Amino acid sequence: MHTHLTTSPQEAAAYLRAGDLVAFPTETVYGLGADAFNADAVATIFTAKGRPIDNPLIVHITRLDDIALLAKDLSRDARTLIEHFFPGPLTVIVTKKTDVPDVVTGGLGTVGLRMPRHPVAQAFLEACGVPVAAPSANLSGRPSPTTWKAVYDDLDGRIACLLQGDRSEAGLESTVVDCSETTPVVLRAGVITLEQIRAVLPAIRSPKPDERQAARSPGARYRHYAPHAQIHLVAHPREIDPHTSAAYLGLDAPATPHAFGLVCACETVEAYAHALFDFFRRCDTAGIQIIYCQTVEPVGLGRALMDRLRRAGSV
Ligand code: TXA
Ligand code: MG
Repeated sequence: MHTHLTTSPQEAAAYLRAGDLVAFPTETVYGLGADAFNADAVATIFTAKGRPIDNPLIVHITRLDDIALLAKDLSRDARTLIEHFFPGPLTVIVTKKTDVPDVVTGGLGTVGLRMPRHPVAQAFLEACGVPVAAPSANLSGRPSPTTWKAVYDDLDGRIACLLQGDRSEAGLESTVVDCSETTPVVLRAGVITLEQIRAVLPAIRSPKPDERQAARSPGARYRHYAPHAQIHLVAHPREIDPHTSAAYLGLDAPATPHAFGLVCACETVEAYAHALFDFFRRCDTAGIQIIYCQTVEPVGLGRALMDRLRRAGSV
């Protein structure tokens, strides 16, 4: 079976309503969706991606009314976040209704809610008419896809339909905030920054890679975002001995860019984040063995960027 390519949200939604998998663009990265209330369809997401079955999925909606189908009761903190950041690149973890299939939430009593702000994602979700469970549309462990081509490279033949859109605006995933317990905790740094959240929820705690957090965010246990090449973090490109099987990605330009196989020097942290996963995939295509990535200050979007760099580099 080849994957059907389309630019029509309505055509893509027909596949999803029939119980098939559909990849679709969002402002963060591409998602791989199934009808959240069709447990059999959701189960096929895990086989298509090779994803561990205990890693829960985020449920995507386009109407605030749909929250009532999924969440039991919303804490005040959850309401505050939804009011300020929906639609947008934030996922809020809340206590789930019993009707949400266990396969969506990895057996947890909570569910992640996200309302994308990408117009094609919104048109697709609207046409689906049901909440859509969706992880990032990559093979498990690979860099998240920021173009439809990256989705196609990973999943052609494994999914029924791919809704083609533009390149993802952010290039990194949504921020995941757990609001199911007393103190709200960031489980995954993402596009909405800790500073932005703190402005509306002063009690927010920043992520700490301790055991407890690993238990609360099952996804944090697995290797992620990794190209085939080895990742090496550097403070400045002057520390590197360049060679043609090496690549460089960072803010400062190296003195001898032509000595590298591939180079991407970005003007801003936003541009760096936008380039990251696509650059990793280009390095794989080019047969790069080692990717030198410049570290950035872990503030604002730099926090999410450093999280991805560290995790892509850890074996
Ligand atoms: O930007 C995004 O969030 C993209 C787009 C497609 O929306 N989606 C995405 O999904 O990145 P995924 O599955 O690749 O990452 C979701 C993360 C995982 O680390 C998962 O463990 C965590 O969110 N998560 C989902 N539901 C959870 C829950 N109920 N409790 C704790 N963590 C949860
Ligand atoms: Mg993912």
